[in-house]
Amino acid sequence: MTPEVNSEQAALWNGPGGHGWAAARDMVDVVLQPFEDLLVAAARERPRTGVLDVGCGTGGVTRAIAAALGDVPCVGVDISWPQIAVAQESTNVRFVHADAQVHAFEPQFDLIVSRFGVMFFDDPVAAFRNLGKAAKPGGELRVVVWRGKDENPFMTTAERAVAPLMPDLPTFDADAPGPYGLADPDRARKVLDDSGWTGVDIRKVDLTCTMPEDVLPTYLTMLGPVGRALQPMPEHERAEVLGTVLRAFEEFVQDGEVRFPTASWEIRALTPL
Ligand SMILES: C[S@@+](CC[C@H](N)C(=O)[O-])C[C@H]1O[C@@H](n2cnc3c(N)ncnc32)[C@H](O)[C@@H]1O
Repeated sequence: MTPEVNSEQAALWNGPGGHGWAAARDMVDVVLQPFEDLLVAAARERPRTGVLDVGCGTGGVTRAIAAALGDVPCVGVDISWPQIAVAQESTNVRFVHADAQVHAFEPQFDLIVSRFGVMFFDDPVAAFRNLGKAAKPGGELRVVVWRGKDENPFMTTAERAVAPLMPDLPTFDADAPGPYGLADPDRARKVLDDSGWTGVDIRKVDLTCTMPEDVLPTYLTMLGPVGRALQPMPEHERAEVLGTVLRAFEEFVQDGEVRFPTASWEIRALTPL
């Protein structure tokens, strides 16, 4: 697949970003399990005939929805080949390697979901308009996106801890393609309105995520800008930086478990009948 748009994100998710998420897939699914539960519950709310999971990564949510709905065709789409290759190892769900902003979907889905996979588009209005073409008339959108970084301190703890050692790490801006791309609810609503979705409903979701303390080093070395910076470092340097980061995470650790609050939006919308 040669993406014509989203080239920066394609490079990231087909490079170290995607390889990190692919390698850390089991841990990602444990940490983000509460959001999987939310989307599976959404899928179960009414009968479905086809479900699309956008930015599906290694497909944990797609598979969980497929298992919950029985015979309903479920498809996952992602721009990241390393993750889609892992997802395709499971046989009962179809996974497509494509840029969801421009892929020519058939209008076959009555539910489109995403767990943190729709904030990376360089033209969000074009992308959500394209997703609208994947939906049947009256089709439903149910996606979760992060609120701002101030409300998600866990996500920036590593960056803040290493800032004195690594001042040049990339930062993620609100409204730019990246984890906080739809953090501003007014902007998110306008994107959905302008792309032809109706009945836009944006709800606060505050969930606590957990992981065993012993997987925290994996989390920190595989994901995010700090993880990507740590991977190529010589062993002794990496151990030193990792030590600094782990100390910064102590406030989230209790009795062998890492627990942290998260702040996200669930965006709901419909395609016109
Ligand atoms: C934060 S990860 C979430 C992955 C997965 N939904 C999960 O919860 O494990 C974001 C995903 O969005 C994908 N993505 C980014 N831009 C995309 C695009 N234009 N089209 C399809 N997928 C995209 C990335 O490759 C990545 O897998």
